[in-house]
Amino acid sequence: MPKISTACLYAFILSQTVRGYNLVQTYSGSSFFDSWTFADGWDHWTNGDIIYLPQAQAGNLTRLTENGNVQIRMDDFTGLGDNMKRNSIRIEGKQIFNSTNAVVVFDVVHVPTGCSVWGSLWSKSAIFVNDWPKGGEVDIMEAVNKMTTNQMALHTDISCTMSTSNPNQSGNAGNADCQVTFGPDGKAINPQGCTVLDTQPQSYSTLAESGGGVWVAEYGAQALNIWFFPRANVPDALKGTPETLDTAALGKPVANYPSSSTCDISKALYPQHLVIDVTACGDWAKGVLESTGCTPSLPNDCYNSYVHLPDNYHDAYFEIAAIKIFGDDTTLLQNSTELANIFGAPSATNTGSHTTPPRATSVSRGGSTSTSTPSSASKIISASVGSLLFMAALMSLSF
Ligand SMILES: *[C@@H]1O[C@H](CO)[C@@H](O)[C@H](O)[C@H]1NC(C)=O
Ligand SMILES: *[C@@H]1O[C@H](CO)[C@@H](O)[C@H](O)[C@H]1NC(C)=O
Ligand SMILES: *[C@@H]1O[C@H](CO)[C@@H](O)[C@H](O)[C@H]1NC(C)=O
Ligand SMILES: *[C@@H]1O[C@H](CO)[C@@H](O)[C@H](O)[C@H]1NC(C)=O
Repeated sequence: MPKISTACLYAFILSQTVRGYNLVQTYSGSSFFDSWTFADGWDHWTNGDIIYLPQAQAGNLTRLTENGNVQIRMDDFTGLGDNMKRNSIRIEGKQIFNSTNAVVVFDVVHVPTGCSVWGSLWSKSAIFVNDWPKGGEVDIMEAVNKMTTNQMALHTDISCTMSTSNPNQSGNAGNADCQVTFGPDGKAINPQGCTVLDTQPQSYSTLAESGGGVWVAEYGAQALNIWFFPRANVPDALKGTPETLDTAALGKPVANYPSSSTCDISKALYPQHLVIDVTACGDWAKGVLESTGCTPSLPNDCYNSYVHLPDNYHDAYFEIAAIKIFGDDTTLLQNSTELANIFGAPSATNTGSHTTPPRATSVSRGGSTSTSTPSSASKIISASVGSLLFMAALMSLSF
């Protein structure tokens, strides 16, 4: 092959792998909470010992700090009687974004920590809202109890596996199988998804004392990538208020989920929206209490060991300086007309839907009457974009 062709080929490969994105959305400061809908009622998603408060009742569980950061907190001041659940917050982004052409940057100052505490920054399909994990779920920051580092995960509805020895990520791959399936009893099999554990303690247990850090999630056509930078190591590309972002400048991601013959990322992930929540106990935190550094006063009883006492929850909060979305004019998909155009061409009719949402089956521990009612807020989301979209999407799963 003549030299010139090799150079051209190389330039071509580079142009395929280097991607520049423009700032298209910022959530910060006093307008932050306008862009989210608040869950209302029992945490039936994880069976957490939590009642999520709607925006009108959130009080100081959502607040702005003196330096303009937002906090999303669990109640850490109310003593609870028997069987009562603790108040907290779960919010879902109103903005839907392109799952193969978006970069989300989270500048975070504090993450929820403590025994029984489970906080997460994540995204899920904005279309298949009652059909988890159809359309995919991406856990960007998620950890429980006294874990040291952050665990990322990808959950898919379709078959999808990742290499457990991937040289293109700095984190440690755990489970390789991303696909969640369901047994005859409706229970999720492999609910943990394919996981990657960060190795940097600043990614969880020492985040706040290290001045926080920045997560970057690139939803690309070739790969889903997640970076984490402790405050001291934030690269120049992310400092200040950049209007553009080239992810090639960020180095090796902590987690790299490439599209490959064993996983078509563009089919695993449908348009996403962000979710932020702080729960207590719940399936994961409860299940791994002792193996993640906690010693419950009553063995195997997360609720009675922790949830009554407000003092257990002073660190159960997110403090966020800003969340930004980078991309181009195909990134933000809030406009339902645009979405209908994308999903509108009818072709296949296979829905492949699960009838039993796996996280919504258990009954509440306590005598609360507001159990298992999905958030009225999330119903509003699905009504506004969903009604049109959901039907269109069912008709056309080719994407
Ligand atoms: C939040 O509100 C509760 C109840 O009104 C109060 O006890 C608590 O001190 C408040 N916390 C802060 C940090 O303002
Ligand atoms: C996502 O972005 C890509 C690249 O711009 C575009 O081809 C695709 O149509 C977009 N997808 C949606 C669902 O808008
Ligand atoms: C790592 O990246 C290289 C270069 O893009 C690629 O050839 C290789 O297949 C990747 N490895 C894995 C396990 O994804
Ligand atoms: C939605 O997008 C369509 C097509 O791009 C445009 O004509 C329409 O004005 C948009 N509607 C809103 C409310 O932005």
